[in-house]
Amino acid sequence: MTDPLIRWREHAASAVLLDGFHALKHALRFGAEVPVAVTTDRRAALDLAGELAEDVREIMDRLLTEVPERTYAALVPRPHPTGVAALAVRPSREAHLRTLARMPRTSPVVVLDNPRNLGNAGAVIRLAAGFGATGVVTTGTLDPWHPTVVRGGAGLHFATAVERLDVGELPPGPLFALDPEGEDIRGTELPDDAVLAFGSERSGLSAPLRARADHLLRLPMRPQVSSYNLATSVAMTLYHWSATGGALA
Ligand SMILES: C[S@@+](CC[C@H](N)C(=O)[O-])C[C@H]1O[C@@H](n2cnc3c(N)ncnc32)[C@H](O)[C@@H]1O
Repeated sequence: MTDPLIRWREHAASAVLLDGFHALKHALRFGAEVPVAVTTDRRAALDLAGELAEDVREIMDRLLTEVPERTYAALVPRPHPTGVAALAVRPSREAHLRTLARMPRTSPVVVLDNPRNLGNAGAVIRLAAGFGATGVVTTGTLDPWHPTVVRGGAGLHFATAVERLDVGELPPGPLFALDPEGEDIRGTELPDDAVLAFGSERSGLSAPLRARADHLLRLPMRPQVSSYNLATSVAMTLYHWSATGGALA
């Protein structure tokens, strides 16, 4: 078996950093290919797996190599309290594009139109994974696989199709754009094949996205409050989908 540090160096440039035990746990549960995983305390990591993630304990046992603290600290931007880090192969864009284009769809696609905040994007990917959304598409320059987004997503990028696309390339399906000036969402049932679009933190929905929208919907909000945070808006909308007949069990 090759030295884990050699494997780490081989994959570091193209792979996705899984930072901490929970990110590794989630990625493994959702089928990520993990060529290398290290920990500063193998016993503690496997005990945690026994306690919280029996389903992936065996694979963690095979994957995790113990390394000195100094070695671990050199591999990650900042040490995680669980002392676990791994690299996962980024899923293929082509496979994601096929998933996003496939119809009929059993759950919505979330679109973030030119998001600016990496933490918000990570939180939205975690929400999409939790609700079983088909995917999260971003438009604009933010990379939804940026390490800070992956950190915010807690390893759940592997549970949904995450890609960047132009507005003209958005997946098929009726497009519901969320905007405080729209119709009250409480009067609308969101279909499973909906494309749910949210505007940028700075400037809301872009003109091309508005032009492509079939419906504009607003979340209830009292007067004098201008808007909700992007990720909380996605949470309310996905919850509304699930509560009005969405496929989630
Ligand atoms: C922080 S807000 C954008 C605020 C921005 N300054 C603007 O001009 O719209 C980010 C996104 O969250 C969604 N959002 C926030 N509050 C909403 C509400 N009450 N109803 C519908 N969507 C909302 C919209 O998609 C919005 O573009």
